[in-house]
Amino acid sequence: MTQLSVNINKIATLRNARGGNNPSVLKVALDCERFGAQGITVHPRPDERHIRYQDVYDLCPELTTEFNIEGYPNERFIELVLQVKPHQVTLVPDSPDQITSNTGWDTKTHFDFLRDLVARFNQVGIRTSIFVNADIEMVKNAAKLGADRVELYTEPYAAQYANNKEEAIAPFFEAAKEARKLGIGLNAGHDLNLQNLAFFCQTIPWVDEVSIGHALICDALYLGLDKTIKAYLACLKIEN
Ligand code: PXP
Repeated sequence: MTQLSVNINKIATLRNARGGNNPSVLKVALDCERFGAQGITVHPRPDERHIRYQDVYDLCPELTTEFNIEGYPNERFIELVLQVKPHQVTLVPDSPDQITSNTGWDTKTHFDFLRDLVARFNQVGIRTSIFVNADIEMVKNAAKLGADRVELYTEPYAAQYANNKEEAIAPFFEAAKEARKLGIGLNAGHDLNLQNLAFFCQTIPWVDEVSIGHALICDALYLGLDKTIKAYLACLKIEN
């Protein structure tokens, strides 16, 4: 079954709005785990406007599920990941002032850079995932440079879902088939929600993990965190 990793950046954004520790990022992360999430994702950015570097150090020893750190691999990020040694690092090509990630890596142009990084993380036992668009060429290069997984950038799927879900998922299905053929793991994330998630995972049941933040935290305002996480987990259950 596809695993759910909850991205808790939005909780940090809310906390940072008032300067104290309410809501507590650590408490919410532990509650997500208690309510059934199989992983926690954080995305520290250079200006620490959401998750702070210190949050990452504080979370790591307390979590009991999979810890995924995603972000642009500048020197500070690389050092953080090597020190914290999460289960997985997801490399994302976002610039420091980007509101949110808006594209995947060009794994052809940045092949050498990514290959060297992947080797560094693999050496200390950290699984690597490369954020890519649903593009067969990008998946092929990610596999060739030695990444353990790719994470498909699902915003274009989410944007087109309401108009035509079959068309929306077609390039993702092709990219996902390529990943399976090459024996590389498959993650997915960005703008997945309670409306579009089940169809994605039913069509591509070999997705290893989805990482979901924005919509899940918004849903939790109405449903509560426990019910929300269970609703997302229900979307991931594949009926055979
Ligand atoms: N995956 C990556 C690489 C991301 O940058 C983000 C957003 O921080 C997500 C997944 C989660 O996206 P969303 O918040 O839209 O669920």
